[in-house]
Amino acid sequence: MCAAPAPGHRAAIHRVLGIETSCDETAAAVVDGGTTIVSSVVSSQIDLHARYGGVVPELAGRAHVELLTPVLADALEQAGSDHTGRGIDGIAVTHGPGLIGSLLVGVAEAKALSMAWGVPLVGVNHLESHLFASLLEQPDLGWPLVVLLVSGGHTLLIEVTAPGEYRLMGGTIDDAAGEAFDKVARFLGLGYPGGPAIDALAPQGDPTAFSFPRSMPGDGYDFSFSGLKTSVVNRVRKEPGAQTADVAASFQEAVVDVLVTRARRAAADVGARALCLAGGVAANSLLRTRVSQACADDGIGAFLPSRALCTDNAAMVAAAGHWRLTRGDRSHLDLGADANLRLVSTV
Ligand code: KG4
Ligand code: ZN
Repeated sequence: MCAAPAPGHRAAIHRVLGIETSCDETAAAVVDGGTTIVSSVVSSQIDLHARYGGVVPELAGRAHVELLTPVLADALEQAGSDHTGRGIDGIAVTHGPGLIGSLLVGVAEAKALSMAWGVPLVGVNHLESHLFASLLEQPDLGWPLVVLLVSGGHTLLIEVTAPGEYRLMGGTIDDAAGEAFDKVARFLGLGYPGGPAIDALAPQGDPTAFSFPRSMPGDGYDFSFSGLKTSVVNRVRKEPGAQTADVAASFQEAVVDVLVTRARRAAADVGARALCLAGGVAANSLLRTRVSQACADDGIGAFLPSRALCTDNAAMVAAAGHWRLTRGDRSHLDLGADANLRLVSTV
């Protein structure tokens, strides 16, 4: 995928167009210098998938085809550019992991634009782009960092010793944290996506009303959320009169408790200068409060990207792409999509 830099003169990379279509957000953004967001447009397909209680892959792929052209036009126009790509020095596109049909829409468009505009292209790992969401707002992050990446598809603890240098410390052995939020919310009739719904309802409930299990498998840094989800279902079936807000608050408390306990220990064990949140679940209010408190108690930094940068967006793709393009990474017209792309160190 990424070839060695070609010898000879290469134009400096300032403005990068990012394209993100890995799941149910169609997004395009222009970022200058890797850290200044010039434009960022996100078109969510939430309404399309809500009645099915989750993302329907075929519908997502088709919606990306329809939405990507107007979303791109909007992002380019807001950045003072147009369909000729005026002022754009490079293109970054998410090429995995994600839904294969959705990824392919973005990758095909990015390759076409790179060829038409004569600018370099780089494929970006969606997980790496979530890590770069923090760098967009705080480019002077110190190293090493421990990143808790919590989204609908992933729950990972990653040690980052420098951009591109990643060590996977642990992950979920079953459901992702966001998936648990979505499944429990669906069971409670709160709609899709479940994370924001539970986040909004929980403050009206008592987080100590139910004592749900805090599963921490093994001695390392792994997570497990499927037992918690089953426990919520069994409890509500046994006690149909239970207040939904109490269930939501108690469930959220259990998830956040586990996430913060393991992340905090991971940060201490590697001597991290900071703990960083990434991914859609990083928008959760309780998680943000608890991580801030834990980091203050432990005397390390807490990096919490703004909520808009936690959930899927293309500014983070452009930021990761800027770093990759600047160091000489290039993808070619044979760039493909990989639904199961893994995060590996490339330095
Ligand atoms: O990163 P993201 O936008 O897409 C993936 O790459 O998966 O994450 C989406 C996930 C969904 O499961 C959604 O319910 C969850 O993030 N989420 C939240 C919140 N906002 C989004 N979970 C808890 N609290 C929130 N406020
Ligand atoms: Zn994501």
